[in-house]
Amino acid sequence: MLVTGKDILVPARAGKYGVGAFNTNNMEITQAIIHTAERLRSPVMVQMSEGAIKYGGQDLANIVIDLAQRATVPVALHLDHGSSYESALKAIKMGFTSVMIDASHHPFEENIHETRRVVEAAHAMGISVEAELGRLGGIEEHVVVDEKDAFLTDPQEAVQFVEQTGTDYLAIAIGTSHGAYKGKGRPFIDHERIEKIEQLLSIPLVAHGSSGVPAEIVQRFRDSGGEIGDAFGIADEDLQRATQHGIAKVNVDTDLRLAMTVGVREVLKATPKEFDPRKVFGPAREVMSQIIEHKMRVLGSVGKA
Ligand code: G3H
Ligand code: 13P
Ligand code: NA
Ligand code: ZN
Repeated sequence: MLVTGKDILVPARAGKYGVGAFNTNNMEITQAIIHTAERLRSPVMVQMSEGAIKYGGQDLANIVIDLAQRATVPVALHLDHGSSYESALKAIKMGFTSVMIDASHHPFEENIHETRRVVEAAHAMGISVEAELGRLGGIEEHVVVDEKDAFLTDPQEAVQFVEQTGTDYLAIAIGTSHGAYKGKGRPFIDHERIEKIEQLLSIPLVAHGSSGVPAEIVQRFRDSGGEIGDAFGIADEDLQRATQHGIAKVNVDTDLRLAMTVGVREVLKATPKEFDPRKVFGPAREVMSQIIEHKMRVLGSVGKA
């Protein structure tokens, strides 16, 4: 069933498990996400970025909405990193049931102002909202406190932000970052900060940049002819610990990009004569399903729907 983000995330925070919010850009990715969720009885969020909307538009949104409506588990369609009020409203008109307004790069007061406008409009239509406070980026364990404070989410500011905006869930900067290169090794996650924010806020918390970038997938990417440097993601143990302390929505895009591409590369490399698209994208969909299953098991959402 198609539900709002709040419908999925409030029980997740209360039950101390995480729900994967996976980015989609086409039918196969969407099928892998929703069909794996059904197989594992897990709630799930499917998200489209503004780039995904540009690429797939209403056609892609309708694929997600149709699969979600027919699914036997709760599914939300979420706008990832909405950059403006207009963008959030456009997504709501397209049928999204959850929107992110990301004004985190603006000064604090402006972030509050932009977020509150979106919250007021979205709530009037029964749609839930994610906002972001802090700047995403990798940090080294040994960096001084001042430096961490400079861009990771400040717990007191987070309280003020939530009070003044009414956002339904909040993305916090805790040491994760977007993409396949999150650090020179296992990235440092500021669990102390997560626990402070957990104590001060009762709404679900969101971790962006949460791909694991598994070494095995990176190796398969290389073995099938891909070029990739020293790629590192977020360790499963860090995500598990975070979900015990308020993190309820866990954003994953990079892992599915890698999985999809590895699947395609392996088929094309092994069978150069193949040109049936179903033989190319079918196995890629299977590689994505395995990654999604692993993530759902790590986050503890299996069996929660
Ligand atoms: O956080 C960004 C997501 O990975 C979406 O990326 O804007 O290239 O679709 P995109
Ligand atoms: P990854 O790059 O770690 O997959 O993060 C995706 C994300 O945060 C989407 O908003
Ligand atoms: Na998002
Ligand atoms: Zn993100």
